[in-house]
Amino acid sequence: MVLTATNQDRASLRKTLRQARRALTADQQQQASLALLNKVRDAELLPQSGHCAFYLSNDGELNPTPLIQHCWKIGLSTSLPVLHPFTRGHLLFLRYQHNSAMQHNKYGIAEPKCEVTNVVPLLQHKVIFTPLVGFDLNGNRLGMGGGYYDRTLASLKSATGIRLIGLAHDCQQVDALPFQNWDIPLHMIVTPNRIIKC
Ligand SMILES: Nc1ncnc2c1ncn2[C@@H]1O[C@H](COP(=O)(O)OP(=O)(O)O)[C@@H](O)[C@H]1O
Ligand SMILES: [Mg+2]
Repeated sequence: MVLTATNQDRASLRKTLRQARRALTADQQQQASLALLNKVRDAELLPQSGHCAFYLSNDGELNPTPLIQHCWKIGLSTSLPVLHPFTRGHLLFLRYQHNSAMQHNKYGIAEPKCEVTNVVPLLQHKVIFTPLVGFDLNGNRLGMGGGYYDRTLASLKSATGIRLIGLAHDCQQVDALPFQNWDIPLHMIVTPNRIIKC
């Protein structure tokens, strides 16, 4: 279903969904992050080799850290988004290792220190795991409202084979998400309990 949305709709949805994920207890968050690892492993969603992009959880987001550590164990390279130093509103992906030097960005989110030698070009990723605020069964994604992933992934619109997989708690699902023509849809959403192919 195609819905048009006002900024107001999107803003109030974001508020409700962010409150729901922040209401999860530390125990629930920990169990969810381990369940996520098992889901991704059992469904063999990780590539055999190459780069996978993740994020560090913030604001009640599903925590992919156990999954990142699993990638390190099996020799997969992981990257994290950083706010692009030159192109405003875009993300740049930087290699993330257990000993990466980190700093906090303007949103208070930890990101690898921006060194050009650690940049992983977007097209070198096999999978990009994104956080999200809300999702629906069609793969529509509502983010925090900055449009960072939409801008950064806009160049992937023509098929590149890169899989975009949203990670979320089950409480972040909505029936039909209002979306705009700049929104980049996801190929799949993984929750601690479900894998949704879109
Ligand atoms: N490809 C793009 N080019 C230019 N502006 C964009 C692009 N994608 C998103 N934006 C802008 O980013 C803002 C936030 O986008 P939105 O989809 O609401 O956020 P989010 O995806 O974080 O939920 C919008 O005002 C939109 O105009
Ligand atoms: Mg968007």
